[in-house]
Amino acid sequence: MSKYIAYLKCSRCGKTYRYEDKPLTCSQNDLGRLDIYYDYEKLKEFYTKEYVEKNPLRSQWKFFDLLPPKMEDNIVTLGEGGTPLIKAERLARELGVKRIWLKDETRNPTGSFKDRGMSVSVSVAKEFGFKNLTTASSGNAAAALAAYAAKAGMNVYAFVIEQAGYGKIAQLLFYGAKVFKVRGLGEEDPTVKLMRLTYERYGFYPSPSFGPFNPYQIEGPKTISYEIVEQLNWKVPDWVFVPVGAASLLTGVWKGFRDYVQLGLIDHLPKLVAVQSSGNPPFVRAFKEGQDPFNIRPWPKPHTIAWGLEDPYPWDGDGGITALKESKGDAEEVSDSLILKAMKYLASYEGVFAEPSGAAGLAGLMQAISEGKVGRDDEVVVLVTGHGLKDPDIVKEVAGDAPIINADLDEFTTVLKERYGLEP
Ligand SMILES: Cc1ncc(COP(=O)(O)O)c(C=O)c1O
Ligand SMILES: [Zn+2]
Repeated sequence: MSKYIAYLKCSRCGKTYRYEDKPLTCSQNDLGRLDIYYDYEKLKEFYTKEYVEKNPLRSQWKFFDLLPPKMEDNIVTLGEGGTPLIKAERLARELGVKRIWLKDETRNPTGSFKDRGMSVSVSVAKEFGFKNLTTASSGNAAAALAAYAAKAGMNVYAFVIEQAGYGKIAQLLFYGAKVFKVRGLGEEDPTVKLMRLTYERYGFYPSPSFGPFNPYQIEGPKTISYEIVEQLNWKVPDWVFVPVGAASLLTGVWKGFRDYVQLGLIDHLPKLVAVQSSGNPPFVRAFKEGQDPFNIRPWPKPHTIAWGLEDPYPWDGDGGITALKESKGDAEEVSDSLILKAMKYLASYEGVFAEPSGAAGLAGLMQAISEGKVGRDDEVVVLVTGHGLKDPDIVKEVAGDAPIINADLDEFTTVLKERYGLEP
């Protein structure tokens, strides 16, 4: 046994693995995720509320007992996690619900929750002795990976789609990643294909933010749930709203609450709600239509301002569907215009600036309230997953530019009226 990891088990074929054997993917090549199981009986001997509260560390590594790697020396950290749970009073008043909390993941080192998973992933790569990491993403996950790899002195090979915007590529190049734009969108995602081929041929460590190629990263986002429970003084909220792309975050969040149930620290799960844009809703559709969780229909032409949620195929959809079923949760498909409205609400009522994918959870809550699903007295947590400055183009499109005036009070009052509809 490795620390408290009992074994890993393929989510598709059930084959089990030992952490010591450094497993990364299922040897049956079935695209199953190697889910990590812990020795809860052993953990229960000491892992109490008091034990958690006594640890003053303000990062996700406070939960080292419930995370790989095995050796503390192998942790690669930039101080991720330990994010605030903000009581959103003005927003709650506007939406007519008494208690809304924002889990503000924009505070992470590279501006998104992906830092949690990539910190774990790179730490395991270090423990397993890898120097070269490969990934298929140009988004928040790749940026996070490149930052942690830089910290650890490792090489990152990042395969991005040909259309990837320069803003994202620039960040990757600056962190030192070797970035390649890959042509062609056929049956198999060409970026995932190259990630897989470089893993198989050259033995690079696959470090995307989805499960079938990287079982370790999913342990990062589960610490969000540990933190929420402790921040609410060991109370379980009624609802947690989660933006969904590959559904790894959703699976991780569910795993976190479930760990705490297994450890006897809470006695039930909150209802988890998956939120996707109607420009790319394969996971929400799969849940609503009761599709086979292992055979979710990919979305043919994803198109949404929430580019972080644009995965046409939810790689961890099976875990996500289990999360919704076990928690008696739900799923919401929201319009891009509601996502923009949620962005404005977060920023202007609560001072939290999120990118569209980061605000999608709130858009889901707004829709669920209008559908009468969430009651006035319910306690709600919304995950705000990525920072608004990640996406300056969208910001400009929505907020517009500032008017230019001379240093003249008359001009100020005229333009104040014209542009903002206000009197001084
Ligand atoms: C800001 C943001 N929120 C949410 C998600 C969704 O996470 P997942 O792909 O694990 O479902 C992503 C994924 O890239 C993201 O970048
Ligand atoms: Zn398998």
